[in-house]
Amino acid sequence: MELIVVRPEEFAQAAVDAFGHALVRAERPCLALPTGSTPVPFYRRLAETRFAFPPGTRAFALDEFVAPDAEAPGSNAAFFRRHWPPDFPPVAMPRADAADPEAEIAAYCAAVAACGPLDIAVLGIGVNGHIAFNEPGSGLADGCRVVRLAERTREAAAREWPEGVPEYGLTMGIAEIMAARRVMLLATGPAKRHVVHAALTGPVMGEIPASFLQRHPALTVVCDTAAGALLTQES
Ligand code: PGA
Repeated sequence: MELIVVRPEEFAQAAVDAFGHALVRAERPCLALPTGSTPVPFYRRLAETRFAFPPGTRAFALDEFVAPDAEAPGSNAAFFRRHWPPDFPPVAMPRADAADPEAEIAAYCAAVAACGPLDIAVLGIGVNGHIAFNEPGSGLADGCRVVRLAERTREAAAREWPEGVPEYGLTMGIAEIMAARRVMLLATGPAKRHVVHAALTGPVMGEIPASFLQRHPALTVVCDTAAGALLTQES
């Protein structure tokens, strides 16, 4: 594991640097990208620095809510419209309002699989240890699927969904994430300090899905000093 712990004001650039490094020799790379508050400064910095994606880059969102309105402000589709520059490679994602969510995620993941193993999966981490919508209780072999969202995940999303947070999500699985050539885990802020520490140094177990990343051969963790506080105390 490569651990990069930087001051909060350096986080976005450190993430851009690690991302650029991972893509340096990639041809027509396939990316998986997260939503949430953590990647926002990273995406902003990618835009500010006019990050040059390799030609033919294909980008996929890690997950999406299941909701009647695909354009709902809390949807990941709306997130990428707000935070992902229009001149960057477009981000594909499953439709939140698909009539048949199971078929939707299956078709989506067939497109991800056709792209090839992901060159890089960029991840956030939930306070409950989830990665993408792989909630506690997920297994190493769990692939793309429809999932019931954990209460803590729904609480964290409540502000974005004033009329009620969806109960279900569509997600890439632990299996697709673990198959990525490189994983880049992003974490910021003191609220993540315990889960980051548990995930990276504690037992590998489905109750903290991010702990599976300990078994990934090419994991880069980029966090700020607040999220990484318990990791650096030990070193
Ligand atoms: P956050 O979400 O970046 O908004 O904290 C992280 C996640 O749930 O993956």
